[in-house]
Amino acid sequence: MSDKATLEVNGKKHEFPLVVGTENEVGMDISSLRAVTGGVTTLDPGYKNTGSCESAITFLNGEEGILRYRGYSIEELADKASFLEVAFLLIFGELPNQEQLSKFAHDIKEQSVVDDDIKKILDAFPKSAHPMGVLSSLTSALTAFNPSSVNVDSEEAMYKTVVKIMGKFPVLVAWTMRKQKGLPLDYGDNSLGYVENVLKMMFKKPNEEYTQNPILVNALDKLLILHADHEQNCSTSTVRIVGSSHAGLFASLSAGISALWGPLHGGANQAVLEMLEAIKEDGGDTKKFMAKAKDKEDPFRLMGFGHRVYKNFDPRAKIIKKAADEVLADLGVEDPVLDIAKGLAAEALSDDYFVKRKLYPNVDFYSGIIYRSMGIPVEMFTVMFALGRLPGWIAQWREMRLRKEPIGRPRQIYIGETHRPFKEISKR
Ligand code: CMC
Repeated sequence: MSDKATLEVNGKKHEFPLVVGTENEVGMDISSLRAVTGGVTTLDPGYKNTGSCESAITFLNGEEGILRYRGYSIEELADKASFLEVAFLLIFGELPNQEQLSKFAHDIKEQSVVDDDIKKILDAFPKSAHPMGVLSSLTSALTAFNPSSVNVDSEEAMYKTVVKIMGKFPVLVAWTMRKQKGLPLDYGDNSLGYVENVLKMMFKKPNEEYTQNPILVNALDKLLILHADHEQNCSTSTVRIVGSSHAGLFASLSAGISALWGPLHGGANQAVLEMLEAIKEDGGDTKKFMAKAKDKEDPFRLMGFGHRVYKNFDPRAKIIKKAADEVLADLGVEDPVLDIAKGLAAEALSDDYFVKRKLYPNVDFYSGIIYRSMGIPVEMFTVMFALGRLPGWIAQWREMRLRKEPIGRPRQIYIGETHRPFKEISKR
């Protein structure tokens, strides 16, 4: 293959180098385009054809259903590693040895107390506030309590900041839910593992001991791993672009949380449960909704089915289906909404329309089911996604800064009025 691409603009040929990644992905380096063509730019709404960066963190191949963090397959990581190991891997590039992992877990615990004044900020929100708005605000507020900006070139300073946010973020997540439920704020228990502590902080009742359920711990650990990174998606690109102005890590993360909030991104697992509720309210006839999903005149789509990138299967869904089955069997939850979910999945998997179009349940279908059976309110689902995505965002932010990427500043093709004289107000 040639190592150059030729582009002809206004009768003049220009050559651009081709960049080949370690998995043989090919990119056309057009960084000199405007200079050599006298200002011609590219137009690519949604950046579907634009590589915004070179990255060594996550590789995904939608056609083949491959997802790897730092070269390790998601299947192996979900099976053999813990969420904290995966977080370390994503952020620092290598799996930690036992000593590094124990230190990482210890240092995170050391940093898990948030300034008590954060409670006052939380108090000011109405109970009805959407948890994603609350989480984004509290994450941004952390900047006020930790004002010094991190020196990314110093391994030590970066490590300290990482353990700080990894320690405090689950507290904010749990408190966001407890506030909504009217429960007193709780710090959990530092003798527990990261995921166990998250569950305790979220669910401990003030007048009861909290008993850990290893099946729930395992399911949540896996869900967090599966959500930990997904290369240059909307929230991750947001974190990178905000950070590219050298805004601080916490401010960049807060922006990423806002991006994740949208129903086209992290909000999909909430949409799955809302759809299931709507089917239940309508009488629970799954066949009727299957027909609606297939009807081209009807805008209804089966939420939690299909994927923009994974066209054969979502590797994350394969892994999490097993955990969902275990959780449902263990909890023995009687829930008509979950029965509808099972019914829909079974029907879709044997329906010609869905089989032909390769529309399989995606990760959000099963994560919604697991969160629902754990007793996590629907509005909190995207917050749980954020908890998993945190290490990915940190890793991408750090990489962007270490690679000394320039400030993100796309161009546009202006389509507004051309120059016109100012009109006095009396003449408008
Ligand atoms: N229900 C019914 N039909 C569907 C669905 C669905 N969920 N998804 C796709 N189709 C049909 C679509 O109508 C089209 O049919 P035809 O070829 O006859 O016109 C065909 O399948 C291909 O669909 P598409 O719209 O070209 O596929 P896409 O890649 O643009 O859309 C998607 C992917 C995820 C937006 C879409 O499948 C969808 O809307 N799914 C439901 C929402 C959902 O679950 N989103 C979460 C995705 S996972 C989130 C993450 O990883 O961050």
